[in-house]
Amino acid sequence: MLIVAIVGGSGYTGLELLRILAAHPGVKVVEITSRQYKEKAVASVFPHLKGFYDGLIFSGPEKFKNLKAGLVFCALPHGASQEVVPVLLESGKKVIDLSADFRIKDADIYEEWYEEHTAKNLLKKAVYGLPELSRVAIKKAKLVANPGCYPTGAILALYPLVKAGLVKPDSIVIDSKSGTSGAGRQASVETSFVEVAGAFKAYKIGSHRHTPEIEQMLTIAAKEKMSVAFTPHLLPVSRGILTTAYASLTKAMSAHDVHALYAKFYKGEFFVRIMDEGRFPDIAGVRGSNFCDIGVYADPKTKRVIIISAIDNLVKGASGQAVQNMNIMAGFEETTGLKNVPMAY
Ligand SMILES: NC(=O)c1ccc[n+]([C@@H]2O[C@H](COP(=O)([O-])OP(=O)(O)OC[C@H]3O[C@@H](n4cnc5c(N)ncnc54)[C@H](OP(=O)(O)O)[C@@H]3O)[C@@H](O)[C@H]2O)c1
Repeated sequence: MLIVAIVGGSGYTGLELLRILAAHPGVKVVEITSRQYKEKAVASVFPHLKGFYDGLIFSGPEKFKNLKAGLVFCALPHGASQEVVPVLLESGKKVIDLSADFRIKDADIYEEWYEEHTAKNLLKKAVYGLPELSRVAIKKAKLVANPGCYPTGAILALYPLVKAGLVKPDSIVIDSKSGTSGAGRQASVETSFVEVAGAFKAYKIGSHRHTPEIEQMLTIAAKEKMSVAFTPHLLPVSRGILTTAYASLTKAMSAHDVHALYAKFYKGEFFVRIMDEGRFPDIAGVRGSNFCDIGVYADPKTKRVIIISAIDNLVKGASGQAVQNMNIMAGFEETTGLKNVPMAY
């Protein structure tokens, strides 16, 4: 039995880890932290977990210095994570960090988009945990930087074409729409019910922090600098991200050609489902699951491809992917605990 802990376990990704791990046959969550729920029973604060985690009590945040678990999920906000992760690694833990703190390899780029980094020495050692693209490195990793939600949908949508050199650099436009759980559980006016219900708007135009993360991975794929125009939108739903990515092709391709390329690239990947030709994904079709559904189209008129992906931001975009990474690191079958049918209706 693998003994795990969750640091920052009372937020949406921590709760989603608890939901998924309750069905994992090889894992036991023995420790979990929260400042606001310190010393409260997890199932009393979150009654939907009753019967699954009886006896599990939230510890205060300082508990991270003294954990029994061999593997720790760190589900803290960025900034807080970089204070905690070095201590966990020094005490011999394997860490899967769900924040942005260890995703960007270049400290200057991190500091330009986020804030000062206090553990820069770990940036090069962290493995970017997108299993479909870096499974071998994840297996050996001590620290996995779990990808961001928007980057997961955008990178999986664009990677095959970019890797094959079929996309003109600087032609990529990524238009993504996310449910409000993407912003975390802490209260804010922007994500409150009255502000969001019945509304639909773009935000952080030209300045969203996931932009350099997407560019980093597409640059690796292209072996040349890739820049993207990325615009996120807030959907009045709790979970799900639909990404529509547009790019100009370097040579003429039919929708059939693009579909064949994607089907080949993701062949054998359980969690990436390429839709049949002419079919496009829907966030309802992946809700509550670790799937990333992808539909492709090539527009002969504009010579652009249109790639659409759908993920559940809390599952493939966060905690499901973290469990997928844990399975790889710990030697479990990669799909263990993650093979549920989406809650489409
Ligand atoms: N939500 C998503 O869809 C999503 C997707 C991918 C990645 N992520 C990333 O995953 C991380 C967690 O996201 P989330 O949505 O679960 O956030 P959240 O709902 O705000 O939860 C954050 C957790 O960290 C604790 N916490 C907050 N500030 C802290 C601090 N300074 N020191 C110690 N504990 C602190 C909170 O509990 P207390 O306040 O009780 O301590 C809570 O348990 C973030 O870095 C986020 O960017 C989120």
